[in-house]
Amino acid sequence: MSLSHSKTESFKLFNEIAGRYDLINSVLSFGLHYQWRRLIRKTLPRRNNIKVLDLATGTGDVALELVKAPQVSRVDGLDMSIGMVEKGRRKVQAKNLKQKIDLKVGDAQALPFPDNAYDAITISFGIRNIPDVPLCLEECYRVLRPGGRLIVLEFALPSSKLVRAGHLFYLRNILPKIGKALSGHEVAYKYLNETIEDFPFGERFTKLMADSGLENNRFEELTGGIVNIYWGDKN
Ligand SMILES: C[S@@+](CC[C@H](N)C(=O)[O-])C[C@H]1O[C@@H](n2cnc3c(N)ncnc32)[C@H](O)[C@@H]1O
Repeated sequence: MSLSHSKTESFKLFNEIAGRYDLINSVLSFGLHYQWRRLIRKTLPRRNNIKVLDLATGTGDVALELVKAPQVSRVDGLDMSIGMVEKGRRKVQAKNLKQKIDLKVGDAQALPFPDNAYDAITISFGIRNIPDVPLCLEECYRVLRPGGRLIVLEFALPSSKLVRAGHLFYLRNILPKIGKALSGHEVAYKYLNETIEDFPFGERFTKLMADSGLENNRFEELTGGIVNIYWGDKN
């Protein structure tokens, strides 16, 4: 859950921290990221035999979570960082899931997939890192099948002023220090708070989803509003 200052190059930083990414995630989120990702699985369409695309898949944790759902027959993952994808592939192989999960290197703004190819698309802590969010959402709309669903998990800021102030203190002052100590990387965790503060969370994001053509767009605040889950359908 980190980011460089330059969004267009963020994936390069992820290459550098790929080896310690999972550990740092667990520490910085106090283990809550497992619970947040499980919710993505529960928001999947209920139809049988569905094919899912996980964008900004990173080290593949969402893909590994999604294949636990009985209705999921296959998950493809896509990420710009070769380092993150390679780590993910090793995890998939270790769990003997190569038949069900395929992780590829690629850009979420130019999806290398045909129209109407997937029943669901998921993006977990990735949309914030993508330079052109409307373009990514248009691409999601294109490759989703009619009846398909986009599910996005992303950081947000709590609406309560007091909780927001406390959370911003954590993001600006504590998290960069822990991130730097664990990753050994100067820049990676320095600007995380800026990307969270800049991201158009809540209704501004559901508006962007609607602009891409998605319908029934909704969101739910998780853990006091520090993370939101969004979902919308292609009809
Ligand atoms: C914070 S990680 C999230 C990884 C994973 N989804 C998770 O929940 O742990 C963000 C990921 O976005 C990827 N990314 C950044 N820009 C991208 C782009 N244009 N297309 C695809 N992936 C991108 C990075 O390489 C990184 O692996």
